Amino acid sequence: MSRYFPPEAYGELADGIREVLFTEEEIEERVREIGQAISHDYNGRNPLLIGVLKGVMPFMADLLRMITIPMEVDFMAVSSYTVESREQGMVRLEKDVEIPIEERHILFVEDVIDTGLTLNYLLRNLRAHEPASLEVCTLFNKPRRRLIPISLKYKGFDLPDRFVVGYGLDYREKYRNLPFVGLLKPEIFQP
Ligand code: PRP
Repeated sequence: MSRYFPPEAYGELADGIREVLFTEEEIEERVREIGQAISHDYNGRNPLLIGVLKGVMPFMADLLRMITIPMEVDFMAVSSYTVESREQGMVRLEKDVEIPIEERHILFVEDVIDTGLTLNYLLRNLRAHEPASLEVCTLFNKPRRRLIPISLKYKGFDLPDRFVVGYGLDYREKYRNLPFVGLLKPEIFQP
């Protein structure tokens, strides 16, 4: 049974969607599978899941409750200085993790990996603290836009090289609250 409302209940937000790519049920099923895999693989290792705000919020919240072993969670926040600096792989750390990561089994959780620049920068910093292990879990992956190779231990879905919103993914900060993921209508999305 659906936990949220049917798409049409989301009014003008749903009206902006041209095509639903992943329904609430499809996302929930995949998150359940990833949670089960993490519970199996990290049993006895008390993993520390680290998410990057803000897009990761719904995925992290759902994933946590699909994990059945002891674990901990923390968050980072970044902002890019400028478009150019981001393209050069530089981001500004707005909020660092609070839990020490030395000798911990770290699972980095992302909503989407696009060019890989953000993650590459953050992983480099985390590695310097010598965690026991460092792996990546992303719900959505845009492989065609990758500039830096990133090894993914867990992946939900591959996305086309299109602008998608919902389930944490935004367009100008809106649409994060949709429980499904879809393509925006061209008259709304202005690159
Ligand atoms: C998204 C996502 C990643 C990053 C991936 O965040 O959460 O952190 O972009 O892009 P990249 O692989 O090209 O570096 P965004 O900057 O949209 O911020 P948000 O999570 O607050 O929406």
